[in-house]
Amino acid sequence: MREEAPVTIDVFTLFPEMLVPAVGQSILGRACRAGLLSVRFIDIREYATDRYRQVDDAPYGGGPGMVMKAEPIFRAVEAAQEAEGGYDAVVLFSPRGRRFEQASAMRFSRLSRIALICGRYEGIDERVYRHLATEIVSIGDYVLTGGEPAALILVDAVARLIPGVLGKDESAESESFSESLVEYPHYTRPAEFRGWGVPEVLLGGNHQEVESWRRAESLRETLRLRPDLFRSHALSPLDQKLLNLTPPRRRRRKSSPTPPPESEPD
Ligand code: ADE
Repeated sequence: MREEAPVTIDVFTLFPEMLVPAVGQSILGRACRAGLLSVRFIDIREYATDRYRQVDDAPYGGGPGMVMKAEPIFRAVEAAQEAEGGYDAVVLFSPRGRRFEQASAMRFSRLSRIALICGRYEGIDERVYRHLATEIVSIGDYVLTGGEPAALILVDAVARLIPGVLGKDESAESESFSESLVEYPHYTRPAEFRGWGVPEVLLGGNHQEVESWRRAESLRETLRLRPDLFRSHALSPLDQKLLNLTPPRRRRRKSSPTPPPESEPD
């Protein structure tokens, strides 16, 4: 167990069973058992006051669907705050929120206590947005059936940045987005699979060459797959050198075949 208090994430949801197994597995489960992370699931329905434990109601002004009531959510969050102390962030998931990115994950990983509120149905009473949440977070421009998958994404991305969660072989530093570049390609045995080989440089054992190749590939892959990221990446003189020295392999296009060299006999 580590000396420091774990990063505590309380997830307020109507469907804890969607998330409990996922957080108990693999790296997240290991982080919880090691006392680096504590994830608790609070069932909002338990904080409904009426005899039917009603957590939603028809929208004022009419219209389709149901709206999650403010009261059970406020009661659930306030009960946890009274028992354990205030939160550094109270996050409400919604597609209208600010986009969750690696920088957001880094910021959350430095907090001690985080509350995540998962919405369902057609929406949540606006008073939860205005008077309980400290931030509204979206995981992308698409609409989910609820905030639970978004909560799992946040927990996962944050957990792996907590010091000690990843082993030294799983470092979070040399990978995608830590530097606005995508990762270089990985290969493992066998050296030939269905006729596809492994780049020669990786088999040669020259550490320096491998590092240069990886950096160049990372740059090329970013340019190819995420030109938006590439544009925001400031190329160092070494990056420029690497890109010029080892230009990417040209792909032949059917519409404009590369003519054979003139000196080649017919
Ligand atoms: N709830 C529904 N859609 C969502 C999204 N894209 N991000 C976060 N929470 C959501």
